[in-house]
Amino acid sequence: MSSNPEGLVRGAFIANEVVPVASGSSVPVLAPSDGIAFTEIAEAGEVEIDAAVAAGRQALESGEWGRLPGYERGRLLARLSRGILDHAEELVALEARDTGKPLGQARADIAAAARYFEFYAGAADKLHGETIPYFNEFFVATEREPHGVVAHIIPWNYPAQMFGRNVAPSLAVGNAAVVKPAEDACLSVLRMAQLAAEAGFPAGALAVLPGRGSVTGAALSAHGDIDYIAFTGSPGVGELIQVAAARRAIGCTLELGGKSPHLLFGDADLSLAIPAIVNGIVNNAGQTCSAGSRVLVERAHFDRLVAAIADGFGKLRAGTPEMNLDLGPVINARQQQRVERYCEQAKADGIALLAEGTVDAAVPAGGFYIPPRLYGPVPPDNALAREEVFGPVLCVMPFEDEADALRLANDSEFGLLAGVWTSDGGRAMRLARKIRAGQVYINGFAAGGGIELPFGGVKRSGHGREKGLAAMHELSTMKTIIHRHG
Ligand code: TAP
Repeated sequence: MSSNPEGLVRGAFIANEVVPVASGSSVPVLAPSDGIAFTEIAEAGEVEIDAAVAAGRQALESGEWGRLPGYERGRLLARLSRGILDHAEELVALEARDTGKPLGQARADIAAAARYFEFYAGAADKLHGETIPYFNEFFVATEREPHGVVAHIIPWNYPAQMFGRNVAPSLAVGNAAVVKPAEDACLSVLRMAQLAAEAGFPAGALAVLPGRGSVTGAALSAHGDIDYIAFTGSPGVGELIQVAAARRAIGCTLELGGKSPHLLFGDADLSLAIPAIVNGIVNNAGQTCSAGSRVLVERAHFDRLVAAIADGFGKLRAGTPEMNLDLGPVINARQQQRVERYCEQAKADGIALLAEGTVDAAVPAGGFYIPPRLYGPVPPDNALAREEVFGPVLCVMPFEDEADALRLANDSEFGLLAGVWTSDGGRAMRLARKIRAGQVYINGFAAGGGIELPFGGVKRSGHGREKGLAAMHELSTMKTIIHRHG
């Protein structure tokens, strides 16, 4: 079985083949833009998981993959990067249909996926250890080794980017990667796996197992021959993954989202701050782990600053991928209802709706659209200020001074990103060093951006680092070789 003329792949990708699943089970795939099922994906089960993990093990231990030096792995990654770019428009169409995102955003995502493979292609032969002074008759050196067979469980919000973000560093260090994409959006991932085979990756280096999380994801994370798990998704499932890893004493990376704050001071350059704040929540319809979803605003300038944000928000428009407006629909009916529930609760709690964008009148009735909404002032203990909504909903709240801004920023169970907006460099650095988050931007903010920049959370946002060279350290382990030479 292979891809059909539309480029859709129906099966699991194991050892460089698209194979039908033994159970014959499948899951329908709906287009978020109209709510209509347009294809179905196979659901991989125990048989396919065993086969994918065994193929990975074989590739590492007796196959070609485990024998390749870093520079040759890098060449394969570079070829895959080229393959993605050569098939960019096909992948953009798949990604936009599968996720509902505007074509322009899908195009940026496919370019980012290619860039991940390009970045790690250049790094694959540059991960080295060190020598350690010890007793005179010894020579001691460390080297980095791949973990082995790594399970990558990725979400639906950025399927192509998540594929690049996970798989490129994993293959660069020489792991065999077994990917479980989300049932809601996995078509571009399956297609890129085929492109990897065409690029020349040896059989077993990469597998993609589509299916539901509760079935395929749960069985993969519990598999007895997995060496490491890299997970991106909700805190609830992250907990299950950590338990599955703990049961076998293997490592895991958890990237579990956030409630990332902007700290907006009266002396900020609004020509930079306002577009970044608006885009930081509206991009991908707010379904971004690192979305800037709360804005802490200096009280003495509250009305002026919030009016500027509201002005940007009121102009936003949602539409189909082809309309290519500011945002598309959210991923599914469940997510739409979840976001709407937060908005209804905000209304019931008496929180003012400060600005609302529009949904284009011509969108299909069955699509999962939500107009962007700005609420405030939101009390710090309100659900809107504390929970990850994962939709185009932004809340504003005032702070008194620098100390109060810091207290509010850290008053969250999450700690992924933060943005500090001020022209006072000293204040910006003091805050950057005290905010509990994996990344702090000063006078800038790029939710999800920065392939070169180590990324990850503290607290309930998870642990471990992705992106940059840090991802290669996370996805490899260290061996110390102690040679007594007399
Ligand atoms: P999750 O259920 O956590 O999905 C993430 C990945 O885990 C998907 O591939 C999912 O598969 C899989 N999965 C689900 N249950 C599993 C299990 N028991 N064992 C192993 N894998 C499992 O997220 P969601 O339900 O799609 O979204 C819910 C909320 O999570 C969102 O509203 C948002 O707040 C948050 N979220 C955060 C992120 C990031 S980037 N941090 C991304 C997505 C969602 P299926 O999708 O096929 O079930």
